[in-house]
Amino acid sequence: MATAKLTSAFPVRRQDFEFEEVPRYWVNGDAFMTHVFNGMSALFPDGERFFVASVRAVREVVSDPQLQKDIGAFIGQEAMHAKEHEKFNRGAIENGYDLKVLESWTKNFLAVANLPGLNSKRVHLAATVALEHFTGILSAQLLRREDIVESIDESMRSLWMWHCIEENEHKAVAFDTYKLVYGEGPLNYAIRMGTMLLATMLIMVAIHAFVAELLRQDDKLFNGREWMSGMRKLWGKKGMFRQIIPEFVDYFKPDFHPWNHDTEFLLKRYRKRLGFQQH
Ligand SMILES: [Fe+2]
Ligand SMILES: [Fe+2]
Repeated sequence: MATAKLTSAFPVRRQDFEFEEVPRYWVNGDAFMTHVFNGMSALFPDGERFFVASVRAVREVVSDPQLQKDIGAFIGQEAMHAKEHEKFNRGAIENGYDLKVLESWTKNFLAVANLPGLNSKRVHLAATVALEHFTGILSAQLLRREDIVESIDESMRSLWMWHCIEENEHKAVAFDTYKLVYGEGPLNYAIRMGTMLLATMLIMVAIHAFVAELLRQDDKLFNGREWMSGMRKLWGKKGMFRQIIPEFVDYFKPDFHPWNHDTEFLLKRYRKRLGFQQH
Protein backbone atom coordinates (compact mmCIF):
# COMPACT_ATOMS: atom_id res chain seq x y z
CA MET A 1 0.00 0.00 0.00
CA ALA A 2 1.39 3.40 -0.95
CA THR A 3 1.86 5.79 1.93
CA ALA A 4 1.47 9.53 1.50
CA LYS A 5 4.85 11.23 1.34
CA LEU A 6 5.38 13.51 4.31
CA THR A 7 6.13 17.11 3.35
CA SER A 8 7.00 20.18 5.40
CA ALA A 9 4.13 22.44 6.44
CA PHE A 10 5.66 25.31 4.43
CA PRO A 11 8.00 25.54 1.43
CA VAL A 12 11.49 26.91 0.87
CA ARG A 13 11.22 29.57 -1.85
CA ARG A 14 14.33 30.41 -3.81
CA GLN A 15 14.60 34.17 -4.25
CA ASP A 16 17.07 36.38 -6.06
CA PHE A 17 16.37 40.08 -5.54
CA GLU A 18 18.06 42.98 -7.30
CA PHE A 19 19.00 45.96 -5.17
CA GLU A 20 20.47 48.32 -7.78
CA GLU A 21 17.48 50.69 -7.75
CA VAL A 22 17.15 51.10 -3.97
CA PRO A 23 17.08 54.79 -2.96
CA ARG A 24 19.23 55.97 -0.06
CA TYR A 25 16.20 56.46 2.20
CA TRP A 26 13.93 53.64 1.16
CA VAL A 27 11.38 53.78 3.99
CA ASN A 28 9.10 56.77 3.46
CA GLY A 29 12.07 58.88 2.38
CA ASP A 30 12.89 58.92 6.10
CA ALA A 31 16.45 58.41 7.39
CA PHE A 32 15.51 57.14 10.87
CA MET A 33 13.03 54.46 9.76
CA THR A 34 15.26 53.41 6.86
CA HIS A 35 18.03 52.83 9.39
CA VAL A 36 15.75 50.80 11.66
CA PHE A 37 15.26 48.43 8.72
CA ASN A 38 18.92 48.67 7.63
CA GLY A 39 19.87 47.82 11.21
CA MET A 40 17.63 44.76 11.24
CA SER A 41 19.11 43.71 7.91
CA ALA A 42 22.60 43.96 9.42
CA LEU A 43 21.50 41.66 12.24
CA PHE A 44 19.95 39.01 10.03
CA PRO A 45 22.79 37.14 8.28
CA ASP A 46 24.72 36.18 11.43
CA GLY A 47 21.58 36.09 13.57
CA GLU A 48 19.80 33.67 11.28
CA ARG A 49 22.88 31.48 10.98
CA PHE A 50 22.89 31.31 14.79
CA PHE A 51 19.21 30.21 14.74
CA VAL A 52 19.97 27.51 12.19
CA ALA A 53 23.01 26.25 14.11
CA SER A 54 21.08 26.06 17.40
CA VAL A 55 18.25 24.01 15.88
CA ARG A 56 20.63 21.83 13.88
CA ALA A 57 22.57 21.07 17.09
CA VAL A 58 19.63 19.14 18.56
CA ARG A 59 18.02 17.91 15.36
CA GLU A 60 19.23 14.34 15.69
CA VAL A 61 17.16 13.77 18.83
CA VAL A 62 13.91 15.00 17.26
CA SER A 63 11.85 11.86 16.79
CA ASP A 64 8.73 13.46 15.27
CA PRO A 65 8.90 13.00 11.45
CA GLN A 66 6.73 16.04 10.71
CA LEU A 67 8.88 18.27 12.89
CA GLN A 68 11.99 16.85 11.17
CA LYS A 69 10.54 17.95 7.81
CA ASP A 70 9.66 21.38 9.19
CA ILE A 71 13.15 21.81 10.65
CA GLY A 72 14.56 21.10 7.18
CA ALA A 73 12.32 23.78 5.65
CA PHE A 74 13.09 26.21 8.51
CA ILE A 75 16.81 25.82 7.82
CA GLY A 76 16.20 26.35 4.09
CA GLN A 77 14.11 29.50 4.65
CA GLU A 78 16.54 31.06 7.11
CA ALA A 79 19.53 30.29 4.89
CA MET A 80 17.77 32.02 1.98
CA HIS A 81 16.92 35.07 4.17
CA ALA A 82 20.55 35.34 5.30
CA LYS A 83 21.74 35.15 1.66
CA GLU A 84 19.39 37.87 0.39
CA HIS A 85 19.96 40.24 3.31
CA GLU A 86 23.70 39.74 2.97
CA LYS A 87 23.40 40.75 -0.68
CA PHE A 88 21.40 43.87 0.27
CA ASN A 89 23.96 44.71 2.97
CA ARG A 90 26.79 44.50 0.41
CA GLY A 91 24.84 46.96 -1.77
CA ALA A 92 24.46 49.36 1.18
CA ILE A 93 28.23 49.20 1.66
CA GLU A 94 28.70 50.10 -2.01
CA ASN A 95 26.32 53.04 -1.44
CA GLY A 96 28.68 54.47 1.12
CA TYR A 97 27.39 53.00 4.38
CA ASP A 98 29.88 51.17 6.53
CA LEU A 99 27.86 48.14 7.62
CA LYS A 100 31.02 46.25 8.55
CA VAL A 101 31.00 47.98 11.91
CA LEU A 102 27.38 46.83 12.45
CA GLU A 103 28.24 43.30 11.41
CA SER A 104 31.08 43.25 13.91
CA TRP A 105 28.73 44.53 16.63
CA THR A 106 26.30 41.75 15.68
CA LYS A 107 29.09 39.23 16.21
CA ASN A 108 29.76 40.80 19.64
CA PHE A 109 26.08 40.58 20.61
CA LEU A 110 26.00 36.94 19.54
CA ALA A 111 29.22 36.27 21.46
CA VAL A 112 27.19 36.78 24.65
CA ALA A 113 25.93 33.25 23.95
CA ASN A 114 29.45 31.94 24.56
CA LEU A 115 29.69 33.34 28.08
CA PRO A 116 29.94 30.80 30.91
CA GLY A 117 26.47 29.64 31.93
CA LEU A 118 25.01 30.55 28.53
CA ASN A 119 27.18 28.37 26.33
CA SER A 120 24.97 25.31 25.97
CA LYS A 121 22.75 23.79 23.29
CA ARG A 122 19.72 24.31 25.51
CA VAL A 123 20.31 28.01 26.16
CA HIS A 124 21.18 28.67 22.50
CA LEU A 125 17.97 26.99 21.39
CA ALA A 126 16.00 28.92 24.03
CA ALA A 127 17.52 32.16 22.68
CA THR A 128 16.48 31.16 19.18
CA VAL A 129 12.93 30.42 20.38
CA ALA A 130 12.85 33.88 22.00
CA LEU A 131 14.17 35.71 18.95
CA GLU A 132 11.92 33.73 16.62
CA HIS A 133 8.98 34.93 18.70
CA PHE A 134 10.25 38.45 18.37
CA THR A 135 10.69 38.23 14.58
CA GLY A 136 7.34 36.43 14.24
CA ILE A 137 5.32 39.12 16.03
CA LEU A 138 7.23 41.96 14.40
CA SER A 139 6.66 40.42 10.97
CA ALA A 140 2.97 39.94 11.66
CA GLN A 141 2.78 43.54 12.75
CA LEU A 142 4.37 44.67 9.47
CA LEU A 143 1.98 42.57 7.43
CA ARG A 144 -0.96 43.94 9.42
CA ARG A 145 0.18 47.53 8.96
CA GLU A 146 -0.54 48.44 5.34
CA ASP A 147 0.74 51.96 6.10
CA ILE A 148 4.20 50.59 6.91
CA VAL A 149 4.21 48.15 3.99
CA GLU A 150 3.30 50.97 1.60
CA SER A 151 5.97 53.22 3.09
CA ILE A 152 8.66 50.73 2.00
CA ASP A 153 10.04 51.59 -1.43
CA GLU A 154 8.88 49.22 -4.15
CA SER A 155 12.46 48.09 -4.74
CA MET A 156 12.54 46.64 -1.19
CA ARG A 157 8.91 45.77 -0.49
CA SER A 158 8.92 42.23 -1.89
CA LEU A 159 12.03 41.28 0.08
CA TRP A 160 10.40 42.34 3.36
CA MET A 161 6.98 40.86 2.59
CA TRP A 162 8.56 37.54 1.61
CA HIS A 163 10.68 37.51 4.77
CA CYS A 164 7.69 38.44 6.96
CA ILE A 165 5.54 35.70 5.42
CA GLU A 166 8.18 33.06 6.05
CA GLU A 167 8.92 34.21 9.60
CA ASN A 168 5.25 33.56 10.31
CA GLU A 169 5.14 30.26 8.46
CA HIS A 170 8.00 28.83 10.52
CA LYS A 171 7.38 30.74 13.77
CA ALA A 172 6.68 27.61 15.85
CA VAL A 173 9.50 25.35 14.60
CA ALA A 174 12.17 26.35 17.15
CA PHE A 175 9.51 26.49 19.88
CA ASP A 176 8.22 22.99 19.12
CA THR A 177 11.77 21.67 18.89
CA TYR A 178 12.65 23.09 22.31
CA LYS A 179 9.53 21.60 23.89
CA LEU A 180 10.10 18.22 22.31
CA VAL A 181 13.79 18.02 23.18
CA TYR A 182 13.77 19.58 26.65
CA GLY A 183 10.15 19.55 27.80
CA GLU A 184 8.62 22.37 29.77
CA GLY A 185 9.42 21.55 33.36
CA PRO A 186 10.04 24.53 35.67
CA LEU A 187 13.77 24.72 34.85
CA ASN A 188 13.30 24.67 31.06
CA TYR A 189 10.49 27.18 31.32
CA ALA A 190 12.70 29.44 33.47
CA ILE A 191 15.54 29.15 30.93
CA ARG A 192 13.16 30.13 28.13
CA MET A 193 11.88 33.15 30.10
CA GLY A 194 15.37 34.25 31.19
CA THR A 195 16.80 34.07 27.68
CA MET A 196 13.80 36.04 26.38
CA LEU A 197 14.56 38.87 28.78
CA LEU A 198 18.25 38.85 27.90
CA ALA A 199 17.63 38.51 24.14
CA THR A 200 15.07 41.35 24.16
CA MET A 201 17.45 43.64 25.98
CA LEU A 202 20.25 42.83 23.52
CA ILE A 203 18.13 43.19 20.40
CA MET A 204 16.69 46.52 21.54
CA VAL A 205 20.14 47.87 22.38
CA ALA A 206 21.41 46.56 19.03
CA ILE A 207 18.68 48.13 16.89
CA HIS A 208 18.88 51.54 18.58
CA ALA A 209 22.70 51.50 18.51
CA PHE A 210 22.65 50.58 14.81
CA VAL A 211 20.26 53.43 14.03
CA ALA A 212 22.51 55.84 15.94
CA GLU A 213 25.59 54.63 14.06
CA LEU A 214 23.89 54.92 10.65
CA LEU A 215 22.57 58.39 11.52
CA ARG A 216 26.13 59.31 12.52
CA GLN A 217 27.31 58.14 9.10
CA ASP A 218 24.64 60.45 7.62
CA ASP A 219 25.75 63.37 9.84
CA LYS A 220 22.33 63.28 11.52
CA LEU A 221 23.30 61.81 14.89
CA PHE A 222 22.53 65.00 16.78
CA ASN A 223 19.46 65.92 14.76
CA GLY A 224 16.84 66.16 17.53
CA ARG A 225 13.88 66.34 15.15
CA GLU A 226 14.98 63.12 13.40
CA TRP A 227 15.17 61.31 16.75
CA MET A 228 11.89 62.70 18.07
CA SER A 229 9.86 61.73 15.02
CA GLY A 230 11.69 58.39 14.67
CA MET A 231 11.17 57.37 18.29
CA ARG A 232 7.50 58.28 17.93
CA LYS A 233 7.26 55.91 14.94
CA LEU A 234 8.75 53.12 17.06
CA TRP A 235 7.36 53.81 20.53
CA GLY A 236 4.47 56.27 20.12
CA LYS A 237 0.83 55.23 20.29
CA LYS A 238 0.90 53.61 16.85
CA GLY A 239 4.58 52.79 17.14
CA MET A 240 5.91 49.73 15.33
CA PHE A 241 7.51 48.32 18.50
CA ARG A 242 4.93 49.56 20.98
CA GLN A 243 2.15 47.76 19.17
CA ILE A 244 3.80 44.36 19.57
CA ILE A 245 4.11 44.65 23.36
CA PRO A 246 0.89 42.68 24.14
CA GLU A 247 1.99 39.77 21.90
CA PHE A 248 5.47 39.96 23.38
CA VAL A 249 4.04 39.65 26.90
CA ASP A 250 1.99 36.59 25.88
CA TYR A 251 5.27 34.68 25.61
CA PHE A 252 5.49 34.59 29.41
CA LYS A 253 2.19 32.71 29.83
CA PRO A 254 2.87 29.10 30.79
CA ASP A 255 0.47 27.74 28.12
CA PHE A 256 1.76 29.98 25.34
CA HIS A 257 2.28 28.63 21.82
CA PRO A 258 3.23 30.80 18.78
CA TRP A 259 0.10 29.70 16.91
CA ASN A 260 -2.06 31.15 19.71
CA HIS A 261 -1.58 34.25 17.57
CA ASP A 262 -3.43 33.24 14.43
CA THR A 263 -1.67 34.86 11.47
CA GLU A 264 -3.03 32.52 8.80
CA PHE A 265 -5.25 35.25 7.30
CA LEU A 266 -2.20 37.49 6.86
CA LEU A 267 -0.28 34.65 5.24
CA LYS A 268 -3.12 34.00 2.79
CA ARG A 269 -3.39 37.69 1.90
CA TYR A 270 0.32 38.23 1.33
CA ARG A 271 1.02 34.92 -0.43
CA LYS A 272 -1.65 35.97 -2.91
CA ARG A 273 -0.13 39.42 -3.24
CA LEU A 274 3.33 38.00 -4.01
CA GLY A 275 1.98 35.28 -6.29
CA PHE A 276 3.03 32.43 -3.98
CA GLN A 277 1.08 29.17 -3.78
CA GLN A 278 -1.20 28.76 -0.78
CA HIS A 279 -0.37 25.94 1.68
FE1 LIG B 1 14.44 34.87 8.66
FE1 LIG C 1 12.94 32.88 11.57
